[in-house]
Amino acid sequence: INQGNGVKGLSEMGLKALPKQYIQPLEERMCMTNVQAQESIPIIDMSNPNDPEVEKSICEAASKWGFFQIVNHDVPVEVLENVKDATYKFFGLAAEVKNKYSKEHSLSNNVRFGTSFTPQAEKALEWKDYLSLFYVSEEEAFALWPSVCREQVLDYTRKSEVVIKQLLKVLMKGLNVNEIDETKESLLMGSMRTNLNYYPKCPNPELTVGVGRHSDVSTLTILLQDEIGGLFVRGNDGDNWIHVPPIKGSLVINVGDALQIMSNGKYKSVEHRVVANGSNNRISVPIFVNPRPSDMIGPLPELIENGEKPIYKQVLYSDYVKHFFRKAHDGKKTVAFAE
Ligand code: SIN
Ligand code: FE2
Repeated sequence: INQGNGVKGLSEMGLKALPKQYIQPLEERMCMTNVQAQESIPIIDMSNPNDPEVEKSICEAASKWGFFQIVNHDVPVEVLENVKDATYKFFGLAAEVKNKYSKEHSLSNNVRFGTSFTPQAEKALEWKDYLSLFYVSEEEAFALWPSVCREQVLDYTRKSEVVIKQLLKVLMKGLNVNEIDETKESLLMGSMRTNLNYYPKCPNPELTVGVGRHSDVSTLTILLQDEIGGLFVRGNDGDNWIHVPPIKGSLVINVGDALQIMSNGKYKSVEHRVVANGSNNRISVPIFVNPRPSDMIGPLPELIENGEKPIYKQVLYSDYVKHFFRKAHDGKKTVAFAE
């Protein structure tokens, strides 16, 4: 039905109505009466990341909201603009070029062009196309990543490392973990995946979702979004949804399941979702900062030595991720690993 050009292909056919595979059950559609317009996630100025007040607001945001935006971080604005341009360029390629990176044709599992999330497991599809790039080495990126976006993605991912390290250092300090040695650094950020997301304009946005409710499996996620908006975060009262407004030059940071588990529940990995949009295409570019697939993750030993009772079991990170990708987006998964 979409000639291999994903949801973008469907959108550009000028459909009058949403194809029925994309119609979400009522309970998964975004209902605007559940939107809490009075609240917003914190915005943190990173000009002085070692200022104790700034450190405090980062740790509080991670434990109370699980989400915050950062401004005046040192990822240059041109790097952000370039990766957004590159995202448009990639999705603008002909279907047969993009499909060289599809599950069927990609030369590697580390490079994947796809649509929806887990189409084989979903009752209703998500209105989204993506390119997912798992970083192994620069050589591999040059050999396997699409040339229209590889340098821009590499640059964005590399330039973000400084702020990722600053944030992790502060978050660890908030747990009284004051030394990040090589082993710990690798546990926190031993692997990286950058996705390019494309949410095409949708004929019936209220009937579907861009991305269904989920929490991320990462340690931290760094998200660049364009000026369209549509990302909603579960409010800390548990019922309402809070919009994450686009702020030029900002990055959205969220705690993922791996950090919730490693922090023994202190930092929260919070559910979020993306609505579909009836008038505009939207893009976003998340970097998922992850443990390595071969790492065992669990509450950090420092916390247990301090007398905390572990609330999560140890789990092989690749098993945790497999569990996530086996099912449709249907909310948080950390509960399955409670001790
Ligand atoms: C996601 O959480 O999967 C995507 C977030 C976004 O596009 O804003
Ligand atoms: Fe997410």
